[in-house]
Amino acid sequence: MSNKDLKCGLYVDHTGDLSSAIQNATNGGYNFIATNLVNPRSNVFTPHSDLLLSSADWSTLVVGMITSFDLESKVLENSVKMESEITYAVHLGLPALLFQCPTSVSAVSQLSRIINSKLTFSGGFQNLPQFWIQIPIHSPLESCAVWRNDCQDIPSEDTWFRWHRLRSHMAVDKRLSIALELNGDLPDEALLNRWTGEPIKAVILSTSIFQTNRKDYPVLTKAHQMFIRNLMNKMSNDIHFIIKGHNRHTDMRHYIQYLEHIRNTQLPNDPVAKFAKGYEDFLQIPLQPLMDNLESCTYEVFEKDPIKYEEYGKAINEALKDLDTKDEIIIMVVGAGRGPLVQASINASEIVKKRVHIFAVEKNPNAVVTLQTLREQRWGGDKGTEFAKIDVIACDMRDWEAPEKADIVISELLGSFGDNELSPECLDGVWSYVKETAISIPSSYTSYLAPIQSQRLYCEASQLREKDKPSYSVFETGYVVYMRNFYGIDAPQPLFTFTHNDLSLKPSQRNNSRFKSLDFVAKVDTVCHGFAGYFEATLYKGIKLSTVPTTHTTGMFSWFPIYFPLHSPLFIKAEDTLKVDFWRLTNRRQIWYEWLISQPVPTSVHNPNGRTYSIGLL
Ligand SMILES: C[S@@+](CC[C@H](N)C(=O)[O-])C[C@H]1O[C@@H](n2cnc3c(N)ncnc32)[C@H](O)[C@@H]1O
Repeated sequence: MSNKDLKCGLYVDHTGDLSSAIQNATNGGYNFIATNLVNPRSNVFTPHSDLLLSSADWSTLVVGMITSFDLESKVLENSVKMESEITYAVHLGLPALLFQCPTSVSAVSQLSRIINSKLTFSGGFQNLPQFWIQIPIHSPLESCAVWRNDCQDIPSEDTWFRWHRLRSHMAVDKRLSIALELNGDLPDEALLNRWTGEPIKAVILSTSIFQTNRKDYPVLTKAHQMFIRNLMNKMSNDIHFIIKGHNRHTDMRHYIQYLEHIRNTQLPNDPVAKFAKGYEDFLQIPLQPLMDNLESCTYEVFEKDPIKYEEYGKAINEALKDLDTKDEIIIMVVGAGRGPLVQASINASEIVKKRVHIFAVEKNPNAVVTLQTLREQRWGGDKGTEFAKIDVIACDMRDWEAPEKADIVISELLGSFGDNELSPECLDGVWSYVKETAISIPSSYTSYLAPIQSQRLYCEASQLREKDKPSYSVFETGYVVYMRNFYGIDAPQPLFTFTHNDLSLKPSQRNNSRFKSLDFVAKVDTVCHGFAGYFEATLYKGIKLSTVPTTHTTGMFSWFPIYFPLHSPLFIKAEDTLKVDFWRLTNRRQIWYEWLISQPVPTSVHNPNGRTYSIGLL
């Protein structure tokens, strides 16, 4: 990771000589300064002149600190003053404004109204800055009580509530985020982790929390290092650092160098993170490979996964070994795409030295062209390879009248939520051309669900709203997303399982509708913004693929998780049980999910009758 990527600013009190302050900061290696635009001690509004800097410099070198006016006693007068500062900052084109989050309930509501009026004002402002709300991670009063003996009865405060109260008053907006101030002690791990589900755009570090190592350089405690690394990771490194306070070490530059060191010693990117770079927290509509025809580039992306096909290969080997026959083994690769599972079957036949006849069944006419080309050029045409003969069948697997019955049926029709690409319904369609003993790879799969706090994902969903659609619609869809900026309220639990140990059952003997109620427990006070969905599939015997975080198949990147939002964020108290009811429902034309929360607060049913999100069977 390049050192240049770290965005580090200096917290500078109001100065009469802004240009020199910027010059000093940039000479010391800092990218910007955070400073008051007006003298907070002056009663008259005399901000820095816009002629001091070019527009390009205002928009990159200065974060504006907005004066913390008294918003309790002189509400209207001070609100006007604050709004003038904000409007002036917008005029200058600053990239971000920093607001101290007040402690009192009434001041928070005043500040919320002021910021909200800017965020929701549709006329006038062209480039609204980001609004960073400065929140201390630990109540400064409580920190004082540790070393002072004149303030004994300080009630303990969870500072997260300041932020939670403020954002609850406001429109959901990407430009509203947190500048988290690390001011000494860190709270418990559970409370710390909860911050990773919040949109943190800046971390303010006081020079006083740095210790000095043996070589006189500033360092942080192990706990601080770990938390900062965790934040860098969860915010996908899109985070600014602001150093506050006077130099307590040899050179102000050393604070930046230390943060660069933390950043450069993050865990090396795993293959999934590398593959997903640029897609962090980006919502995508799930593919529907049954209803739509996938494009060549989509197949190409699947085929880059080094692990998925390796695991399928192992499963096919084992299944071939277990088939105790001297006859030619009939393998049907249903939904063959551009052929990677056909290739895996050919490879397996060579490893176990058994003759196989492979039927590659595919309904996408464009992928069939690839299969036919591969058959001629790589798979020996009519003659076949040493152990395998391959036939390409251009048809829907549910309609095929096969010449023979299969010993092994291989498919990969799995979505991010396991059954959401209609693997169960497609595999129901092969019943007429499989032996009763036929092996299905995969043999089963289970979806998993976990409640999450993620202002970011909820905000991303809300921004997808289309003018002519009802406002609930964006919160009734599953989104495929490489989730980073989220906090898991409780561990994922299994939801719906589909097993394929008897493929010869007729569809009329099966029911693919499902219902399950799951209970989760919140460890800390939190906000539920919806659910993360994962799956685990057993290919054959103990060979599995998993996207569930605790059992994730290392290095496999074919599937990102799925996010099911709620209509509205739901506050949950620590120890509360969160009960979610989830349905998979079907009719002749489509399948869809419905969900609701019944405890601790009842919500409406999401996606009734699949009104917003359904998966087509036709
Ligand atoms: C997720 S892709 C997997 C492709 C390939 N097996 C791989 O692993 O790269 C699923 C494939 O199944 C095909 N498919 C889906 N439903 C099908 C059906 N009912 N009959 C035949 N092919 C189907 C799709 O067109 C697509 O090519």
